[in-house]
Amino acid sequence: MLTRPTIPNDTTLLLTLTQGTGMFKPIEIDALREVLEDYHAIEHTHRHFAITMDVDGVIGGFAYYAPTPMTDNSWHLYWIVVERSLQGKGVGATLLKHVEDHIRSLGGRVLFVETSSTPHYEPTRQFYLKKGYEITGVIKQFYSDEDDMVVFRKRLR
Ligand SMILES: CC(C)(COP(=O)(O)OP(=O)(O)OC[C@H]1O[C@@H](n2cnc3c(N)ncnc32)[C@H](O)[C@@H]1OP(=O)(O)O)[C@@H](O)C(=O)NCCC(=O)NCCS
Repeated sequence: MLTRPTIPNDTTLLLTLTQGTGMFKPIEIDALREVLEDYHAIEHTHRHFAITMDVDGVIGGFAYYAPTPMTDNSWHLYWIVVERSLQGKGVGATLLKHVEDHIRSLGGRVLFVETSSTPHYEPTRQFYLKKGYEITGVIKQFYSDEDDMVVFRKRLR
């Protein structure tokens, strides 16, 4: 497994890979396209980071993270996705450790991740709990009447 900065040529594959997990709605895939376009156009100059994980020479996943504006070194992990057939094999854990180590090296204090409360996202919530994150808040009905935002947090120092 090798982690490298995401390049514009990755975009099509990252969108396909993300769609292929079956976890994201079409509007979320559209949002990801915009996120990656903005990243390559400007956001990479604002301490936003996108990293791609190559597994046996093929793209296996990616992560996107950035400092949270107007905070003392809080960071947000906005996206972390592993290709469906590679899930459950330690790729996500390796990617997440890379993200945490990088943020720590930049002076990051706390890392926040937001996810959905639906049963569909139970494996994702288990993943964060296993990796030392705690639930720090639940914002009721954030995504829809039946779907709360669950906010996880981990101290990095
Ligand atoms: C969430 C995700 C990134 C995790 O990556 P992964 O490669 O599947 O996870 P790993 O194999 O590295 O597992 C790491 C740990 O989480 C645990 N875990 C992973 N999937 C789990 C599941 N379905 N149920 C319970 N625990 C799980 C593993 O047991 C492992 O624990 P350990 O460190 O004690 O051994 C990946 O499954 C994914 O892309 N899911 C779909 C997209 C998504 O939900 N992204 C996050 C929201 S943006």
